[in-house]
Amino acid sequence: MDNKLSAEKCAVLHQAAFGAKGWQPDTFLTLLAKPTHFVLGDEACFILWQQVADEAEILTLAVCPTHQKQGWGYRVLCAALKEMKREKIKKVHLEVAANNRAARALYKKSGFCENGLRAGYYGDSDALLMVLCL
Ligand SMILES: CC(C)(COP(=O)(O)OP(=O)(O)OC[C@H]1O[C@@H](n2cnc3c(N)ncnc32)[C@H](O)[C@@H]1OP(=O)(O)O)[C@@H](O)C(=O)NCCC(=O)NCCS
Repeated sequence: MDNKLSAEKCAVLHQAAFGAKGWQPDTFLTLLAKPTHFVLGDEACFILWQQVADEAEILTLAVCPTHQKQGWGYRVLCAALKEMKREKIKKVHLEVAANNRAARALYKKSGFCENGLRAGYYGDSDALLMVLCL
């Protein structure tokens, strides 16, 4: 796993996974320039998170469609959680669309629990808030 993935590579993977909602390279350039933001990934997937004090928030996670349902998402998430543990992070937060079955299955398998809901947050779906204590 590479922790120096380029903004361009992140954008290619993000657009492949999210389609028209994928983020542009400029967005990743801005985020990756911040000392609080971290990325981990490879050719098939990546995860981006931010850390503040002893808490982290997963901002996005994307697996290339040709590699989905083969354990890549789980592996990159586990690698990121290991990295966070090493950084003494105690709590990890994230937000996921309630209608995103794949992501919810991945987060549940990784030990995250639901701890809130933002009704209609994504327009076509509620947002579920999830948390994991490391
Ligand atoms: C969500 C996503 C990251 C999952 O990555 P993945 O590599 O396909 O997931 P994995 O193969 O590691 O599977 C992890 C678990 O989720 C389950 N899962 C994966 N895709 C699923 C689907 N479409 N429906 C139901 N469960 C699914 C797997 O079965 C597995 O659980 P199991 O081991 O108990 O069977 C990937 O589908 C993706 O990039 N989607 C588009 C972008 C996105 O939604 N990102 C998350 C935003 S919060």
